[in-house]
Amino acid sequence: MSNNALAWIDEELARLTEAGLRTTIRTIESPMDGWVTIDGRRLLNFCANNYLGLANHPRLRAAAKQAIDTMGIGPGAVRTIAGTTSLHVELEERLAAFKHAEACITFQSGFTANLATIPALTGDGDLIFSDELNHASIIDASRLSRARVVRYAHNDVEDLRRKIGENAGYRRGLIVSDGVFSMDGDIAPLDKLVEVAEEFGLILMVDDAHGEGVLGRGGRGIVDHFGLHGRVHIEVGTLSKAFGVVGGLVAGRKPIIDWLRQRGRPFLFSSAMTAPDVAACIEGVTMLEESDELVTRLWENARILRDGMQQLGFDTGHSQTPIVPLMLGEAPLAQQFSRRLLEQGLFAMAIGYPTVPLGKARIRVMNSAAHSTADLEQALDIFERVGRELRVI
Ligand SMILES: Cc1ncc(COP(=O)(O)O)c(C=O)c1O
Repeated sequence: MSNNALAWIDEELARLTEAGLRTTIRTIESPMDGWVTIDGRRLLNFCANNYLGLANHPRLRAAAKQAIDTMGIGPGAVRTIAGTTSLHVELEERLAAFKHAEACITFQSGFTANLATIPALTGDGDLIFSDELNHASIIDASRLSRARVVRYAHNDVEDLRRKIGENAGYRRGLIVSDGVFSMDGDIAPLDKLVEVAEEFGLILMVDDAHGEGVLGRGGRGIVDHFGLHGRVHIEVGTLSKAFGVVGGLVAGRKPIIDWLRQRGRPFLFSSAMTAPDVAACIEGVTMLEESDELVTRLWENARILRDGMQQLGFDTGHSQTPIVPLMLGEAPLAQQFSRRLLEQGLFAMAIGYPTVPLGKARIRVMNSAAHSTADLEQALDIFERVGRELRVI
């Protein structure tokens, strides 16, 4: 092998750096919470998907420790070979009941939940109608399926209808959409998508990663938010965001869940969540069933922050949820903004191409129930200072 075989990587990395598109990964020296420690400094944290502040909650920590004492840590092998633990079964039953779904299956992550589901439901000769802004895991899962993908304009149900009309002659058809779009914080028109799916006899799948624990009554998700129980075939979710742990889930009709236990490749060929993860998630479900206090606080925090940003003159895009983008345009400006925020005591990431389209770089502000009102006031002060300094407002 030539010594130059990997030279292209250095060139590509240099190009990313030059274009202001190279991601810097910060090292966090504290638990993930409303505040974090970076380089020994305490910083307000507006980066995490830790919507409900469960990532470092004492009840989840206690549940994880107890599970280690009673069940150990690792699952030993894939569930279809080594068997599944009673904890995994309990979590799936509890999630199905919480979400008023017929059944539920869990995976190692939201990403693998999508990788399991789409190729198990579609293949050669099938069509996938996919929102153009869908998450990377939906895009990759669709490629793996070998079905043909037809992209429709973002949240545009008329374009979806048009595309369905233009593409006859397929075996099975699937409509798939993010529930909450992770970079813009807007919500898919799931009520309209259900009507289209029912009219054309298509399978409907929603990836509710950012709606799980956030949307719906007490965080029961997007299907609950729209009151569509029993009408959406597949609701994918994650346990890594509002639930504060790690893992993925698929909730829906029982035959689909049974099928995924037979044909979902990440279920068959990769080991399951660990015992402490599962126990912490069960405790999270218990907490959400007991009270909607955290969900209510999250939405109130998001309202205060979004209103405050808009009053300062920032463009917050189309956000309808606790994800609030601060639209800046060019990637170098967004990176500079993020660096200045960090220097002023606030951690919020710049997001640029290819995660969002070119020219649509932004700071993605992630709200959490872990923030106090004083935290939000301090955050708005910092955003104002940096916004004026960089002439954004
Ligand atoms: C829409 C969507 N699906 C799936 C995922 C992946 O979830 P996880 O981190 O659990 O793999 C994400 C996370 O960014 C997401 O936003």
